[in-house]
Amino acid sequence: MRFSVVLGTRPEIVKMSPIVRELQRNGDEFDLVHTGQHYSFEMDKVFFRDLGLPDPTINLEVGSGTHGAQTGKMLIGLERFFQQTEPDVVLVQGDTNTVLAGALAAVKLNIAVGHVEAGLRSFDRTMPEEVNRVMADHISDMLFSPTAVSADNLRAEGIADDKIHITGNTIVDAVRENLHLAAEKGDALTSLGLVKGEYIMTTMHRQENVDSPARMKNVLQGMEKVNQNTGLEIVWPMHPRARKNLERFQLSVPPGVKVIQPLGFLEFLQVEGNAALALTDSGGVQEECCILGVPCVTLRDNTERPETVLVGANKIVGTDPVSMADGVRDMLGRDGWICPLGEDGAGTRIVKICREFRKTWA
Ligand code: UD1
Ligand code: UDP
Repeated sequence: MRFSVVLGTRPEIVKMSPIVRELQRNGDEFDLVHTGQHYSFEMDKVFFRDLGLPDPTINLEVGSGTHGAQTGKMLIGLERFFQQTEPDVVLVQGDTNTVLAGALAAVKLNIAVGHVEAGLRSFDRTMPEEVNRVMADHISDMLFSPTAVSADNLRAEGIADDKIHITGNTIVDAVRENLHLAAEKGDALTSLGLVKGEYIMTTMHRQENVDSPARMKNVLQGMEKVNQNTGLEIVWPMHPRARKNLERFQLSVPPGVKVIQPLGFLEFLQVEGNAALALTDSGGVQEECCILGVPCVTLRDNTERPETVLVGANKIVGTDPVSMADGVRDMLGRDGWICPLGEDGAGTRIVKICREFRKTWA
């Protein structure tokens, strides 16, 4: 049985890593197929290094572009690769353009598609991620939902029950497997001049936030307020999309906010896990904070991870400066929730289901 594991962006590299490890452990035949959606060292190769992943079999090097151009280039390259290698199962993860292209190229070739992290919904179709995940879910054969909430979303859209598997989220393994490695690797806090519990960590990259000068300006004002109210420094490993737009809109970062390069996964885990709070629009960071016991304030108007809000680990505040400051005040010091993202072993469960699925039509 041959697997193709498709990935293209940093969260996919992180969340696919437990599945790759499981395939390696079992001696399964697999190709790691990189679309090249992310390509800067700090958005791509650093994760292969930190997670000890093998080099991709192929990198399609599609790079950046408009949604249509980027997805189209991926489709052409992925179709060609799948035709040459004839995988039995193609696995995609999450909600990026890479996911949509991977699932679509495979299904048209009658290859079984497994969607990891299926059924998440923000119910906001203006987000490119929502469109990608809805499309990927409806053309996949195996839907690996992290929680009962995401499985219910799929059922509500009429997806057959026998395609849905509640597996937990692979991020739980990715975090737990790498926490000790992160500590062994060195002391990211000292090298960044940070003290445990005495700073707030922020990340931001969503199209709806960083492509809008008004929303970005609001967030910067909000950060200034948060810094003034709490006295906590804000450290911001800045995504290239945010950096590009900050320059384009000629906005400046307020005092009390320290901008740094995006971090590798092991350094990031240390900075995230020791923060007093995270201020973010990232999906993965909302989850990781919930796992690590760090309160999270989300700079969005909705979330496809409502479980994190329900347990009290996360608060949705949008980008209004006053709401940001109020949200941080409410969340600082919170802890004690039970992580709702599933047990360890999601990667193992997912690979096992793929093998069983193969048996039904082999
Ligand atoms: C993409 C995903 C988003 C995911 C995010 C993870 C889509 C539609 N969006 O957003 O869901 O949360 O990845 O980080 O698939 N750039 C670089 N170096 C890189 C990659 C990007 O400089 O390695 C810059 C380019 O200027 C590029 C911009 O970032 O135009 C945006 O990159 P893109 O891959 O289109 O979207 P992301 O915002 O990264
Ligand atoms: N991450 C990282 N370094 C950073 C910022 C994020 O290693 O400087 C990791 C983070 O731990 C998480 C993933 O990147 O696993 C989240 O990616 P991102 O926020 O870009 O995308 P999203 O999860 O929103 O799709």
